[in-house]
Amino acid sequence: MKQICVVGVGYVGLVTAACFADLGNRVTALDVNEQRVENLKKGIMPIYEPGLDELVKRNVNAGRITFTTSYKEALKDAEYAFIAVGTPSGESGEADLQYVAAAATSIAREMTAPLIIINKSTVPIGTGDWVADIVKKSQPKPIEFAVVSCPEFLREGSAIADFTSPHRTVIGSMDKDAANKVAHLHLPLRAPIVITDLRTAEMIKYASNAFLATKISFMNELADLCELAGADVKEVAAGMGYDARIGRHFLDAGLGWGGSCFPKDVEALAFMAKEKGLNPRILNDVMQVNNDRRKNAVVHIEKMLGGNLKGKTIGLLGLAFKPNTDDMRYAPSIDISEALTKAGAKVRVYDPVAMEVARPLLPGSVEMFKNSYDLAAGCDALMVITEWNEFKQLDLEKIKGLLKSPIIYDGRNIYDPQLMKEMGFTYRAVGR
Ligand SMILES: NC(=O)c1ccc[n+]([C@@H]2O[C@H](COP(=O)([O-])OP(=O)(O)OC[C@H]3O[C@@H](n4cnc5c(N)ncnc54)[C@H](O)[C@@H]3O)[C@@H](O)[C@H]2O)c1
Repeated sequence: MKQICVVGVGYVGLVTAACFADLGNRVTALDVNEQRVENLKKGIMPIYEPGLDELVKRNVNAGRITFTTSYKEALKDAEYAFIAVGTPSGESGEADLQYVAAAATSIAREMTAPLIIINKSTVPIGTGDWVADIVKKSQPKPIEFAVVSCPEFLREGSAIADFTSPHRTVIGSMDKDAANKVAHLHLPLRAPIVITDLRTAEMIKYASNAFLATKISFMNELADLCELAGADVKEVAAGMGYDARIGRHFLDAGLGWGGSCFPKDVEALAFMAKEKGLNPRILNDVMQVNNDRRKNAVVHIEKMLGGNLKGKTIGLLGLAFKPNTDDMRYAPSIDISEALTKAGAKVRVYDPVAMEVARPLLPGSVEMFKNSYDLAAGCDALMVITEWNEFKQLDLEKIKGLLKSPIIYDGRNIYDPQLMKEMGFTYRAVGR
């Protein structure tokens, strides 16, 4: 059993805290957001993540996890302090490190015993050294500490399984003893452990995310060619994926990537390259291809509706940037509903879990519905925006009867084009 403090109870922090508690450690999870902490004390989760509610409650009941807004309380007896605060995009695309700086400063002021500070947030190369500097300067009196980078690779929607069965654990530090202790903490996860220096660990995280984003943008560029050349990108992906050098993951063409990580991380990596005088050509194109997906979707639905969106009612199936999460950060649904509204269309939406989070992010005129069928009733067309499972087995005959015209733009390739045609839909998918 170790004594652990986790700073930040968002998607990464809360999962980290709950999973380490479940492994038998004693965890204090801290956040500056009082509402979040109050809710957690009452058993209300701040985010939607499958299985999290149950995991947190089990460990609260076992006395292994507590929540606080006080650094003093959270650091009392702590041997390890994980930083898991947000690192959003700054004005020029750089990673905004204000939350990391604030967390490091607070830790330095309140720590009373030697501590290993482990950074889980995705941060630019060199941030670990910078954090060490902040801690040193902010300590009222010198207390021994080490800074370790341990980037997180979990995916929202499968965060608990990803955390507990990672492909690898990356640990970076200039302090070998601290790196070994952090490795020991992760041993129960039984994943290969890569121990390296701080900067390399920080780079591994950016490189991994940028590479995965590149795979998706590559397939999206290919999808456009497939459409014109008469090939099916879904089958192309399946055929490519059997090659172990390529792998099947992240080959799905569609509306592109969104969420809290890829957009800001690709941008931040490009920013770092530019700062060093390099021209990040691939990264720039990867972002451009991705941004174009959203615009293309609107162009396609406009064509399907006879070239004019004015006065048309369009239903969006799904809002979250991907299924099994309520995360709306950089979700395609935001840009698409804005563009449709701007073109004079009436936009209706339905998402199984993201409606509440989405409300303030969508144009005020957007109408929200409680299920796919109520949404479809009276619509001129539907657009599949998020590939939630419940959309895959909709009663499409019923949907056809409810729509004013049987038009579906499938931005996530969840339906069979042949079947849709046979059912009498005017159907368009991506790259097929
Ligand atoms: N979300 C993901 O899927 C994911 C996956 C891997 C890595 N990451 C990285 O992990 C980091 C956290 O991401 P997230 O999605 O969990 O963020 P989030 O926005 O969901 O949560 C961040 C939390 O930190 C809190 N916070 C901010 N400043 C604080 C401070 N000074 N002290 C204490 N708490 C503070 C916020 O109130 C918030 O609750 C980011 O760097 C992100 O890039 C995220």
